[in-house]
Amino acid sequence: MTEAVPVRIDGVELTLRVNENLLDACQRSAIELPFSCRAGSCHTCLLRCTEGVVPEQAQRGLRPSLRSLGYLLACQCQPTSAMTLTRPSQADMVTSCRLLTSAGTDASFRFMQFETTRLLTCQPGQRLLLVTDAEPAPLIEVTAACPETHTVDALMHCPPGGIFPSWLDAADAFGQEFEVRGPVGGAGDGLAGKADVPVESPAPAPDPALWTELDGGATVRAVLEDFYDQVYEDPLLVPFFHKATKDRSIDKQYSFLKQLMTGERIFFGDRPRNSHHWMVISNELFDYRQAIMVRTLEKHGLTALQIARWTRLELHYRRDIVKSAAWPRHVNGVDLPLDGYANETLSAGTLCDHCGAVIDAGTLVKYHVRLGHISCPDCASGKPKVLVSSDGACDAAA
Ligand code: HEM
Ligand code: FES
Repeated sequence: MTEAVPVRIDGVELTLRVNENLLDACQRSAIELPFSCRAGSCHTCLLRCTEGVVPEQAQRGLRPSLRSLGYLLACQCQPTSAMTLTRPSQADMVTSCRLLTSAGTDASFRFMQFETTRLLTCQPGQRLLLVTDAEPAPLIEVTAACPETHTVDALMHCPPGGIFPSWLDAADAFGQEFEVRGPVGGAGDGLAGKADVPVESPAPAPDPALWTELDGGATVRAVLEDFYDQVYEDPLLVPFFHKATKDRSIDKQYSFLKQLMTGERIFFGDRPRNSHHWMVISNELFDYRQAIMVRTLEKHGLTALQIARWTRLELHYRRDIVKSAAWPRHVNGVDLPLDGYANETLSAGTLCDHCGAVIDAGTLVKYHVRLGHISCPDCASGKPKVLVSSDGACDAAA
């Protein structure tokens, strides 16, 4: 390069000096770019060129799929003409993996645990694509990931018309090497705020065999009774449940899971985005709840495959539940206000948030649309029988 060349990275313009590479120019201009070897070996300093000509040297050692997308190594790139560059997208990245265990004989799912040769930052609920010549490629849905040990628990889904790779079921599958692309989907890195309410998730594919394996619901109910015993004692989770009795939570969750597993339309409650619309739940709190669920499922004797199939159904709703600010309820295409009151006929009994009276299923109640506080008909009419003070003591109404 004999003259200075302008480049644009993430919208920031900088001019490269003669014989300067992109990594050095970024460091001189305080543009953060990860790096390690500075010699084209570690591939840490990847960038993607969206406009301009990529010098051949800058792509040496990259796999063809990345080269064709315009990926380059900043430490090896001395631009010869103007370039526009962006950060790498996780969806394009390929990671080498080694199988530790696999389980299951179901036509649609296999449980698998594998380790990755580099840190693969992925979250439960995100998806990876198996790199294979077979079309369509199986999808791998992450159900747990441990960054310390680089291990991932996942469900491999057999796509319609596709097949599982033959090595997955082989007796000597331990140590089998394979590659995955991604992750994609799931909650992503940030928390959705008030302004960016995501499109609501359609229901996940049902798993009727799981419902049958769990004794047609008996184990599901036993797990939920145990799970909610813990939730209602848990200091981080119980504050959200101040207006829902334990029986109501168990019943709702039971019919929701029955619908998810069997695919039958038997749940008439709110879908997760609306029922959790006022609850500010972080990714960490969501994972904390899931960890209690997994421990409970293990205690009730579910296999690793069954646990992954159960949690797949719940993890599917992460982006409907995780957020950094309350969302409005969304009914029939309309956003309802975050404040004010609405009427609803209860589909299951609960307690009045003001006087503590039992309210039976089928009662028309008034509720605060953001807080979710329910008023029994007496309180709603302004004639409460008993008041519950903030310290929990009851006083006769004046
Ligand atoms: C930290 C995570 C979570 C918290 C704090 C939480 C909290 C709650 C609370 C307080 C209710 C009661 C609402 C009411 O009775 O009006 C509720 C209802 C419900 N939750 Fe969650 N939840 C969490 C995660 C999940 C997950 C992962 C799922 C499964 C996808 C789920 C599915 C449901 C369903 C189906 C209902 C009943 C909706 C209805 O009332 O019709 N929740 N949740
Ligand atoms: S820093 Fe290692 S390849 Fe660029």
